[in-house]
Amino acid sequence: MKVFSGSSNKPLAERVAKDLDTRLSPLETFIFPDGERRIQVVDKVVGYDTVVIQSTSPNPDTAYMELFFIVDALKRSGAKSVTAVVPYLGYQRQDHVFRGGEAVSLEVIIETLESVGMNRLITFDLHSIKIPELFKIPIVHLSALSIFAEKIKEIYPNYKTDSVLVSPDMGGIRRIKILSEILSNMPYISIVKDRDLVTGNIESNKIDTNLQDFKKEVKRAIIVDDMISTGRTIDAAVNLLRKQGIEENVVFATHPVFSNDARNILQNSKVSKVFVTDAIDIPKEKIFPKLEILSIATEITKNL
Ligand code: R5P
Repeated sequence: MKVFSGSSNKPLAERVAKDLDTRLSPLETFIFPDGERRIQVVDKVVGYDTVVIQSTSPNPDTAYMELFFIVDALKRSGAKSVTAVVPYLGYQRQDHVFRGGEAVSLEVIIETLESVGMNRLITFDLHSIKIPELFKIPIVHLSALSIFAEKIKEIYPNYKTDSVLVSPDMGGIRRIKILSEILSNMPYISIVKDRDLVTGNIESNKIDTNLQDFKKEVKRAIIVDDMISTGRTIDAAVNLLRKQGIEENVVFATHPVFSNDARNILQNSKVSKVFVTDAIDIPKEKIFPKLEILSIATEITKNL
């Protein structure tokens, strides 16, 4: 097997290669003065199973174009198979038409990847469990929840009695139920969130359960989400939970998209700790003191 990396998440690709006791195979990339790029496979790949690791954030359009070219170059160079590891699948929130006249961007991405010859896709914590149905090729949908569960057991040994899992919106209920099962059925609640589709503002926020049922013993809320983009969902959830009397709030999210001012929103919010994964490489300027990064490399390696 030969492992290649796109330019968006080299540190994760290197961790995977190290886990596999191998090195990343070289790729030559040249960017022309007009911004177009040329990708060239240097090693012989004829008859090899190959793997390409590429996250699609930040700069989803550039990252996808690069991925399309790498898959095409590998196929044309005779690779037996190409598995694309796309830990964060950009455009996944545009998986159907929300308002008339819109494109279904995710379908366009999937069709392109399939047509350039990708044989299998490995990805993590998709926004909707229906997304795999859009693929014609096999897709391995992995999750960081077991990594989160291990961390929770390690740092909050009394989690079964002193903590409650919280989904910041009703769409995350399935995720929170799975994590609750992994953690011996620890209690969970969900926030009901309404977001204005045009402005992105969170319009209303309430808790679906009577928190008083938990409050006596519970001193900590563990919020779990698939991704943090602007950070506004987490900030709003923490404010609501504090109003309800839960002082300590921590968050676990798989994909640190960290758009716009997310770094400052999270650092200045009342959330005490933010755990994310290396599904997306976070640039130095977006790192902040409350942040801790957990690696998904071993989960990927187990599935190659
Ligand atoms: C929404 O349904 C997702 O699960 C996340 O909660 C959302 O994408 C986070 O976005 P933001 O950080 O911009 O509030």
